[in-house]
Amino acid sequence: MEQDMQSLNDFNVGQGTRPLAGIPLVRLPGSARASGLDMDARRGLSQTPKRLPPKYFYDGRGSLLFERICETPEYYPTRTESALLERHACGILNQVAPGTLVEIGSGSSVKTNHFFVACERAGRYCRYQPFDVCDEALRAAAARLKHRYPWLDMELLVGDYAVDLLALPHSQGPRLFLFLGGTIGNLNHEEALTFLATLRAAMHAEDYLLLGFDRIKDKRVLDAAYNDAHGYTAQFNMNVLRVLNTQLDANFDEHQFMHVAFFNEDERQVEMHLKARCAHTVTLARIDLVASFARDETILTEISRKFTPAGMKALLEAAGFRWCRHEESDNGYFSLALAAPA
Ligand code: AVJ
Repeated sequence: MEQDMQSLNDFNVGQGTRPLAGIPLVRLPGSARASGLDMDARRGLSQTPKRLPPKYFYDGRGSLLFERICETPEYYPTRTESALLERHACGILNQVAPGTLVEIGSGSSVKTNHFFVACERAGRYCRYQPFDVCDEALRAAAARLKHRYPWLDMELLVGDYAVDLLALPHSQGPRLFLFLGGTIGNLNHEEALTFLATLRAAMHAEDYLLLGFDRIKDKRVLDAAYNDAHGYTAQFNMNVLRVLNTQLDANFDEHQFMHVAFFNEDERQVEMHLKARCAHTVTLARIDLVASFARDETILTEISRKFTPAGMKALLEAAGFRWCRHEESDNGYFSLALAAPA
């Protein structure tokens, strides 16, 4: 365990520059993460209540911490969605017959395995374009996939899905876009509409979108999922402070903050906050900003919205999609929706 955390803490040292034999990596305009961070931190830490966009969790260490969260017993979304994909990958591949899988926010690409296994079973191969904000995660995933599926033709895309959808390089169609894990829930209603409508505009008539979304459920289940007993979610939440310290030469002290996460039933969203344990100030030298915290003041670091199938159908239709197929887990905890341009 000690050893384990040490390797996690050292993860960002030097691992991002290793070349990947023969697998192209494309940097889209939004991959300049740090430039956005300047503005997002300045704006987000000057306003009340303070907030930071969740994409900054995912440096190499944050991406690994997210993987740990997914393995905790409390965090049901990943394993529930994975079981759904295992059950339905073949049927979805038959329905779409994709030439390329484009995965938005691919991270470790673990769940995507079900599609590659289904490809092998059907003897029908397709290309893979994983798209993520974290190039370390992309490289690690690609190395693993190349080893397991030597036939897989990949192109790695580093970028930000909020700005790069229209800049995605084309590939053999039909394309099956994957947006899994319930990440759509990180966007508020307007942002989700804009995201989906932009994706719709980037799609051709023959393309499909497979969307994973988390469902409204008992508050106790949701509260536990974002407060795992191991404390990985707390470390993941705190990781954004390390990112600010490194990128913006800031002096956040993790010990001055508390991880707070709960299901806000009125807003139908889980909220993650970092709450100041006492009044203090933090300096972000690189952007010349001093942020003062009152005792108990919070930074909203993430929203994770939960949906009903009817709500998601309405959202997709408002963005120009038609609802083609819906698969849900037996307990109703998580759903997959297959949609196509209307
Ligand atoms: C990757 C955005 C789907 O919202 O559940 C997990 C991130 N945050 N635990 C989610 C997350 C805290 C996750 N998404």
